[in-house]
Amino acid sequence: MNQYAGAEDWVPHAGGMRKLKADLPSCRGCDLWEDATQAVPGEGPVRARMMLVGETPGDHEDKEGHVFVGPAGHLLDRALDEAGIDRSDVYLTNAVKHFRFEREGKRRIHKTPSAGQITACHPWVVREVEIVKPELVVVLGAVAARSLIGPSFRVTQDRGKQVELADGRPAVATVHPSSVVRSQEFKRDLGLLVDDLRAAAALLK
Ligand code: URA
Ligand code: SF4
Repeated sequence: MNQYAGAEDWVPHAGGMRKLKADLPSCRGCDLWEDATQAVPGEGPVRARMMLVGETPGDHEDKEGHVFVGPAGHLLDRALDEAGIDRSDVYLTNAVKHFRFEREGKRRIHKTPSAGQITACHPWVVREVEIVKPELVVVLGAVAARSLIGPSFRVTQDRGKQVELADGRPAVATVHPSSVVRSQEFKRDLGLLVDDLRAAAALLK
């Protein structure tokens, strides 16, 4: 049993993206809203053919209220560019909408959301997929994979392969841009991300 009520009671099942974004800040589906600055909504064209799903907002995203604007975002921008994908053509969002962190002095250190928090927030990303109806979902890293594909999926083993989401929609999982930023093997891991993004773009051709 999940210790959290989950987002279901807050997610609007009628109305479009505007309504979803208006309702998101009031969500109390888990405890993450308590310490975060704000819920960070997805961004991009509502008719995007490709949706990219990350993990959670980081420190920068939490303060600015926009997805992928910190170091992971810069890395993602570079990878998208190398893969020939225009960021303004894709819908970018996260599996969990509030920042999870621990304080270390003045710094806020990112903490991976728990399985319970990932499950609690799942209805938001499901609704985003329903509204945008992307032809392909790119799953960035283990948290998004747990949310959208399932707990037994292993990104390291199965990245780059086409899989199906619960609604039958095609998806491809790849490494998370933050893991590339921190990687000891930066060039190799950036190459994996770019390869997978390129393969994803090719699936839309
Ligand atoms: N990492 C994510 O997964 N999402 C963001 O918005 C920023 C960093
Ligand atoms: Fe709601 Fe998700 Fe924020 Fe938890 S993380 S309060 S489920 S929006």
